[in-house]
Amino acid sequence: MRNAPTCRPAVPRAAAGLAGEYREACRRSDALFQLVASDALSARPIPERHRLIFYLGHLEAFDWNLLAAYTLGWPRFHPGFDHLFSFGIDPPPGQLPADQPVDWPARSQIEAYNREVRLRLSAELERLPAGALAAAIEHRLMHLETLAYLLHQMAPQDKQISADPAAAGAKREAEWIAIPAGDACLGRRRSDAGYGWDNEYEAHVAPTPAFEISRYKVTNGEYLEFVRAGGPAPPFWRGNGPNSWRLLAMRGEVPLPLEAPVYLTQAQASAYAAWRGARLPSEAEWQRAAYGPVAAGEAAREFPWGEEQPQPRHGNFDFQRWDPAPVTAYPEGDSACGARQMVGNGWEWTETVFAPFPGFEPDGFYPGYSRNFFDGRHFVLKGAGPRTAARLLRRSFRNWFRPEYPYVHATARLARS
Ligand code: AVJ
Ligand code: FE
Repeated sequence: MRNAPTCRPAVPRAAAGLAGEYREACRRSDALFQLVASDALSARPIPERHRLIFYLGHLEAFDWNLLAAYTLGWPRFHPGFDHLFSFGIDPPPGQLPADQPVDWPARSQIEAYNREVRLRLSAELERLPAGALAAAIEHRLMHLETLAYLLHQMAPQDKQISADPAAAGAKREAEWIAIPAGDACLGRRRSDAGYGWDNEYEAHVAPTPAFEISRYKVTNGEYLEFVRAGGPAPPFWRGNGPNSWRLLAMRGEVPLPLEAPVYLTQAQASAYAAWRGARLPSEAEWQRAAYGPVAAGEAAREFPWGEEQPQPRHGNFDFQRWDPAPVTAYPEGDSACGARQMVGNGWEWTETVFAPFPGFEPDGFYPGYSRNFFDGRHFVLKGAGPRTAARLLRRSFRNWFRPEYPYVHATARLARS
């Protein structure tokens, strides 16, 4: 007797909630493109990245390729755009893209393609496998952040960025937190609830010797001392004299906010740490400072502050603000050991090279998603920035960039043994 269906593993179907999240992510990306002046859409604000107009097509092309063509096996209605907008990642240093604005289709054609993709997929959203739809949602959400990096590099007249609400800091406490030797919980199990990208598997334990970690992220004011001692200026600083530094914020230049975290490259963060007699935390150390366990017998938390789902009071993430708040803000997001802003207010560089966890399997639809970056030239970042969606704030989520890449909303925290 044939009973093939029982041999197939059960595929969880998308709950209505996931379809709603997909529609919400689309609403957010539509709103983001509305902020770009129409004549600036063909600009390339970051020389290594695609022109903005690529991303207008990329989000829908990715979804069509993943959800319709790969997952559902549907025939293609526009194979040219499916391919043209399929993948766009940064080329190696020294190989800048050379395409011209005229090489791209008109905005109206891309928007017509996007409408067609949305229309065809909309009735199917509730029936899609949950993992595929979650991947589409998270891919779109990640691009909301990398699109913010592009917006950051654009002239004020080419974008419409709203003013951030005022953000107050809290009292500064002792800088160093001692963490005893113990195990870091890294990665996730295939049986864990919810979605994970290929680089998040498998779950494993990494022993860490005793170490100390700084309670706060490094501020612009602290880094300024390094610059005055001859250290390299960070990427978003503008000015030409030791006392005239300004910051390129999302809306344009402002006086250097001394209490805000400094956005910097991993190379600068490492040099700064060494100058202070410290180093950057490893991924495992960072994980323990953020989620525990701190002492033996404790369990790792879901979020630094505990088990509660992320709320605005826990940190600067999920599109509340465009720019960072002071490093002492959001005490309600403190981790078990008392470290502040482990999640939010800027990603944090680690000293760990981005590499597969034991048991890594490349993603079936997008095998190069992580594997293309296991080249020893990318470092792990953890945490979140102001433009990181709440959905990505899970313990196992890993981000990665080159150590000299200057466009990320990336900060640093010090460690020492
Ligand atoms: C995980 C943020 C490094 O944008 O380069 C989006 C995510 N990959 N589309 C990137 C990604 C393909 C990736 N990062
Ligand atoms: Fe992408």
